Amino acid sequence: MAPTTLTALAQEKTLNAKFVRDEDERPKVAYNQFSNEIPVISLAGIDEVDGRRAEICKKIVKACEDWGIFQVIDHGVDTKLISDMTGHARDFFALPPEEKLRFDMSGGKKGGFIVSSHLQGEAVQDWREIVTYFSYPIKNRDYSRWPDKPEGWRDVTKEYSEKLMGVACKLLEVLSEAMGLEKEALTKACVDMDQKVVVNFYPTCPEPDLTLGLKRHTDPGTITLLLQDQVGGLQATRDNGNTWITVQPVEGAFVVNLGDHGHYLSNGRFKNADHQAVVNSNRSRLSIATFQNPAPEATVYPLKIREGEKPILEEPITFAEMYRRKMSKDLELARQKKLAK
Ligand code: SIN
Ligand code: FE2
Repeated sequence: MAPTTLTALAQEKTLNAKFVRDEDERPKVAYNQFSNEIPVISLAGIDEVDGRRAEICKKIVKACEDWGIFQVIDHGVDTKLISDMTGHARDFFALPPEEKLRFDMSGGKKGGFIVSSHLQGEAVQDWREIVTYFSYPIKNRDYSRWPDKPEGWRDVTKEYSEKLMGVACKLLEVLSEAMGLEKEALTKACVDMDQKVVVNFYPTCPEPDLTLGLKRHTDPGTITLLLQDQVGGLQATRDNGNTWITVQPVEGAFVVNLGDHGHYLSNGRFKNADHQAVVNSNRSRLSIATFQNPAPEATVYPLKIREGEKPILEEPITFAEMYRRKMSKDLELARQKKLAK
């Protein structure tokens, strides 16, 4: 298929068939029907060992046990850096299609621009354009795959990546301690932690009720920090998709969610949040997901098995193998669904 953008499709009156989801996958709750159920936690004072730290840690741990998803404010990442990052990202997606396609990443390139489908090999596509970069380990950075437009974005992204890595590690320290382990336990289990930034742009959509910006999934990695604008569209479920809530956008907050790796390492104590993104016909939406993942060769196995518990994995596997199994299971489910139609 020739590389493309969503620019022209967003102007059509009806939704292109490639994006039409089966009925059971379509949105059940509107993009702007917000819920406050997901906790919003202030990190102010998290470094004060004799002060607020204990109280903040308690809230984080409870949110991870209940939902696997929560929001953080007062995280110490500069407002100006956040607005530069989102401003540059918006400017990139507003570029003419031929400019965006200069960074086309179809054909297996590591990083760049693409109209994404969540599951490789799946016929139905997500209604989103993305730009993705690999930012850690530093030796894996290939700046030729980081867009050079708008000017200055590369430098902003470098700083943004660094700051977010700091916040992620701080949160992993809290979870390690909650498991009764040394602070660095979860970071060490990642070996040489990977970080990937995915900038999502969801254009307005002619028939948003028929499609998703991003199909329901759990993130494979350890911990994800998501910055979203005020439009709304991120949804979470904790009853296997029976009910969904739309996360209330909070200016300057990061939505934090644990992925499969974090879930397995805690022996299932911390949830890997099931989530998706819905779109709308009124306003385009921008979100920036920063994924902290273990190195491919890192071992996936519970770090702590509490008394009376069984390990939720039969054997230790590598993260690369965990990811391979996840993808082939999802693809098989999609294939069976197609056959059953
Ligand atoms: C993601 O799950 O990576 C992004 C979700 C969103 O855009 O709200
Ligand atoms: Fe996600």
